[in-house]
Amino acid sequence: MSEYALEIQNVSHYFGDFRVLDKINLKILPGQIVAIVGPSGCGKSTLFKAILGTNPPSEGEILADGVPIHGPTRDVGIVYQHYSLYDFLTAEKNVSFGLKLDETKLWERVFMFPWYRKKRDEHLRKARDFLDRVGLEGACGKYPTEMSGGMRQRVAVAQAFIMKPKIVLLDEPFGALDEAMREELQQMLLTFYQENLIAKREGRRPEYTILMVTHELNEAIYVADRVVGMSRFHNDGHLGSTIVYDRPCPIFHPDDPRDFSKFVAQREELRRAVFDEAYLKHRDKYVTFWNELSATAAQANAPIN
Ligand SMILES: Nc1ncnc2c1ncn2[C@@H]1O[C@H](COP(=O)(O)OP(=O)(O)OP(=O)(O)O)[C@@H](O)[C@H]1O
Ligand SMILES: [Mg+2]
Repeated sequence: MSEYALEIQNVSHYFGDFRVLDKINLKILPGQIVAIVGPSGCGKSTLFKAILGTNPPSEGEILADGVPIHGPTRDVGIVYQHYSLYDFLTAEKNVSFGLKLDETKLWERVFMFPWYRKKRDEHLRKARDFLDRVGLEGACGKYPTEMSGGMRQRVAVAQAFIMKPKIVLLDEPFGALDEAMREELQQMLLTFYQENLIAKREGRRPEYTILMVTHELNEAIYVADRVVGMSRFHNDGHLGSTIVYDRPCPIFHPDDPRDFSKFVAQREELRRAVFDEAYLKHRDKYVTFWNELSATAAQANAPIN
C-alpha cells in the first residue's frame, strides 16, 4: 500500500496547440479533504478527467495508491454537480448498482440465481449502510424524482464511496443546491473528516479521501484541511495552469459555529495568489503544504519540557 492515496507527477495537457495544464505535481495523503480552486477555464475539470482515467494527460503520470491510472477503475470515484442517478432505481438500488456491475456478471445473474440473490442482498445491505452514513436512513426506497436536490447529491456521494475508492473527486458537487442544503452537505464532509481522524488514531486507513472543486473560497477553507489553487496567472502562464497555492487550512468540527471570520486573511491571500491577474510575480511562493506539515510533525514530536 502506498503512502499516498493520489500522486500526480508532472502532468501537462494540451488540446492541439492550446496548453491547459503545465507540470502539475500533487501528492495527497489518505484521509485528506483537499479543496481545489481556480479561475473558470483553468483546467480543473480537465485534471479531473485525467485522474478519472477517461482522458489521459498529454504528459506525466497519475497514480492511485501507487498504481498508475490508465483508464477508469474502482479506485477513483466522482460526483458531478448535476446528479447522475438512474430515475428508475430506488436510492438503495442506485447505490448498490456499481457493486452489482463490478462483482456479478450477466450469466451469473441468470444461471446462478441463488448465489446472485445472496450477493444482491449483501450489496443492498452495504448500500443501506452507506445511505445511513450520509444521513439518508429513511430514504432507501425512494426514487430520485421523490428526493430533494440535496438528498440526490447524498445518494451520489454514497454511490461513489460504496466502491471503496482510494479517492473521490467532487466537481462542484454543491453548486446547484440552495444555501441550506449546501450547508448540510458541508456538514456531512466535516463528519467524514472526523471519522478519518478516528480511523487514523485507531491505526486504520481512513475511508474518505476527497479532492473537491469549488468556486466558493469560504467553502474551500471551511470543509477542507488543505487548499490547492490552480491558475495560469503566474510567471510561465503561457504554458498553461499550474499549482500556485497549496497550504493547510483550519479544521472545523461539525458542531463548531460556521465562523468564516476566522480565516479572512487566508481567503484574501488565496484570492490574490490564484485569482488576481495583476499579481503575477510568483509560481510557488504559496506552495508550502509539505513544509508546513513537516513543521507541525516536528512540533508534535518535539520533547516536552
Ligand atoms: N475537449 C476539449 N477540446 C478543446 N478545448 C477544451 C476541451 N475541453 C476543455 N477545453 C478547454 O480547456 C480549458 C479548461 O477547461 P476545463 O473545463 O478543464 O476548465 P475548468 O477549470 O473546469 O472550468 P470551470 O471552472 O468553468 O468548470 C478551457 O479553456 C476549455 O475551453
Ligand atoms: Mg469545470
